[in-house]
Amino acid sequence: MKKAIIPILYALVFSFGNVLAGNKPLPKDINSIINQLTLEQKARLLVGCTGSDNGLSHMVAGSAGYTFPIDSLGIPSINLADGPVGVRITPVPSNWKYIVYDSLGIPSTDPAENPVSGKSPSPYPIKKYTSYCTCFPSTTALAATWNKDIARLEGNAIGDEARAYGVDIVLTPGINIMRNPLCGRNFEYFSEDPYLSGIMGAAMINGIQDKGIGTSLKHFIANNQQTGKLYNDARISQRALREIYLKGFEICIKNSDPWTVMGSYNKIGGKYTQANPELLQTILRDEWKYNGLIVTDWYKKRDTADQLNGGTDLMMPGEQSQIDEIIAGVKSGRISEATLNKSVKYTLELIFKSISYKNWKYTEAPNLSENAELARSIATEGMVLLKNDNSFLPIPKGTKIALFGATAYKSIAGGTGSSNVNKAHITDISTGLENGGYQLNNRLKGIYTKFVEFQNDLLDKHPQSTDWEKLSYNRTVIPEMDLTKAENTIEQEAKNSDIALIVIGRGSGEESDRRLEGDFYLTPEEKFMIDKVSSQFHALGKKVAVVMNVCGVMEMNSWKEKPDAILLAWFPGQECGDAITDIISGKVNPSGKLPMTFPTDYFDIPSSKNFPMVGETKSGKNFDYTNYEEDIWVGYRYFNTVKQSIVYPFGYGLSYTNFSFSKPKIERKNNKWIANIEVTNTGNVSGKEVVQLYISAPETFIQKPDIELKAFGKTRELKPGESEIIKLQFTDYDIASFDENNSQWLTSKGKYLLSFGSSSNDLKATIPFSIRKDKTWKVNDVLKPVEKVNVMKLSIK
Ligand code: BGC
Repeated sequence: MKKAIIPILYALVFSFGNVLAGNKPLPKDINSIINQLTLEQKARLLVGCTGSDNGLSHMVAGSAGYTFPIDSLGIPSINLADGPVGVRITPVPSNWKYIVYDSLGIPSTDPAENPVSGKSPSPYPIKKYTSYCTCFPSTTALAATWNKDIARLEGNAIGDEARAYGVDIVLTPGINIMRNPLCGRNFEYFSEDPYLSGIMGAAMINGIQDKGIGTSLKHFIANNQQTGKLYNDARISQRALREIYLKGFEICIKNSDPWTVMGSYNKIGGKYTQANPELLQTILRDEWKYNGLIVTDWYKKRDTADQLNGGTDLMMPGEQSQIDEIIAGVKSGRISEATLNKSVKYTLELIFKSISYKNWKYTEAPNLSENAELARSIATEGMVLLKNDNSFLPIPKGTKIALFGATAYKSIAGGTGSSNVNKAHITDISTGLENGGYQLNNRLKGIYTKFVEFQNDLLDKHPQSTDWEKLSYNRTVIPEMDLTKAENTIEQEAKNSDIALIVIGRGSGEESDRRLEGDFYLTPEEKFMIDKVSSQFHALGKKVAVVMNVCGVMEMNSWKEKPDAILLAWFPGQECGDAITDIISGKVNPSGKLPMTFPTDYFDIPSSKNFPMVGETKSGKNFDYTNYEEDIWVGYRYFNTVKQSIVYPFGYGLSYTNFSFSKPKIERKNNKWIANIEVTNTGNVSGKEVVQLYISAPETFIQKPDIELKAFGKTRELKPGESEIIKLQFTDYDIASFDENNSQWLTSKGKYLLSFGSSSNDLKATIPFSIRKDKTWKVNDVLKPVEKVNVMKLSIK
């Protein structure tokens, strides 16, 4: 009887007659679908599975996870794939006829070619061949563009690629705060500042979702170290949480509507974030009105009943014990029907928005060459020119370059871990320079090429890997060559070349935090190379530039005076060499600005007192728990307030031209503050400039940072003499501080100063405005740390 009713209900609820490929209407009444589900079906819907390839659903090789399909109700399986700099799926060769997935849904082999002793587990006929995806520059490099439009374009391109290959949700963006430069995943994050992180993250989300593909805003919250990340309790004052660590997520959700939010692994307030109702229910859902789905981070199973009761809806990638725990939890009353049904509803709503539900079909491959061009232009726009004495750069074509540094010959496109993209190629820096018309000194090139080949053989733990694996997670970062016995070579190169270009490389990944020695600081080989090359070339009146193909912040105070120019290229993605050449040659005028501070030394950073040291920290402080004693004093908020000298400030970056800022104006309209300033290109070449709007609030009983970023804008490419008016806005709420004692946001009455900077240390124009009476916004008194944090007191010079 039941069997007969279900198809009828199904036809009614889903109005099958109206179904058009790609244009399928949403079911009108999700509750009636929920009523038809058995307890087991509900439990399965909330736990990821290995996918299904059955007509309603399709599998995409290399996806990170799938939801459970219920064929009888027309509910397909949807797939979620990483990640932050492009879609991470597996290229499936076009000569494969079948594909076999292992228990995690990862494609292992083609049984047609390699019959797994004739007993292969469920070989699926291949409906389409997935190919490569575009590897965009690291998230940090994107942040350094300070260009929301370009972030949205990148999102559009990632959305197009996901759509072409049938990926429903892309697991991006990660917007955790760069609390400390040694966090191994910082390259996947935007900034030390929550406003820049939130706004750029929202642009990425909007760009992907413009294409009907979902996103996952991650990792909620305080995933700021890799060491002990699975269990670490982040002990943060309520003020620092609200102003720094939650703020970026709040801004992001206000400016976009991510289909999913991913919980982090760590704890907050002594409880796993994924099982923390104060975080997920009170803040995310009640205060911020978030209406999408909350998903776990991958692989680390917790108590499933706690997670559901805490507000998580979907467990990924899923295992049988989680299904059992849900069923048992409902039966014993630990999980209420209402809680279960709420999560089922969020899951169904997500599935019904997906392209899988809308009958996705493979039509054509994405336009990878167009996206490669976009990746190149984003990479150039994110590069930061740190130093350029006597306008050494740009360098004319045809210049004979002595190219030093192993990374120049095997360059770093991105970091390792889940943000790795299976790309078709990486253009090394040496190749890019040659493509751009520079002559590389052949002898030196030969020496490095042999060194790189030797290191590849030595380091390659996977000699059998395919070409694409060698370009992604099996790609090693080559250590620097020891030149101490090659001083003559350096001398000869100085004679035979016009200039020297030194490349410094630094990898980073999800697997670990960074180290101080040989990572944050230069290695002895790198020091020697910079020293000797600079002195030998300078002795002959020849110039030296350093290109940094690195994950993030490094110590630079001890060596920045040596070269004539320094270009910070980050991880520039697959078009690495060509993009760097675009800046070196002047084809593109640099306009990137630092999304974080470069301190003079690591120990100047307040969080250095409470951050794990790789290899040394294995339990207790900074492992099981971390005290965020620096409180809100992260990055420039600290350095500017205490007037501590730094090497390069937040927001800093040079150009090949100059800009002037006019006298600013401010007015109040529709409950908003609207500020205008005119930027003029006063130099000789075209270029773009970023306007950074900082606020200085009156001192009250709450000690406040000297300045805080509250808005920013970027000009279009301005020709010499051209101007553009940049309009920036903010509300009274946006400039509030958190009054922890009263659980409220407070914008105090008094005189405020708005500063328009081209960096946090170069404020070019200011204008005051006043708030006449105190304004407050009450919030819930939640997420207290398990122990009161002994927060740092600033001594202001
Ligand atoms: C990472 C996430 C990622 C997920 C799926 C986890 O290890 O922390 O960022 O999206 O794996 O691959």
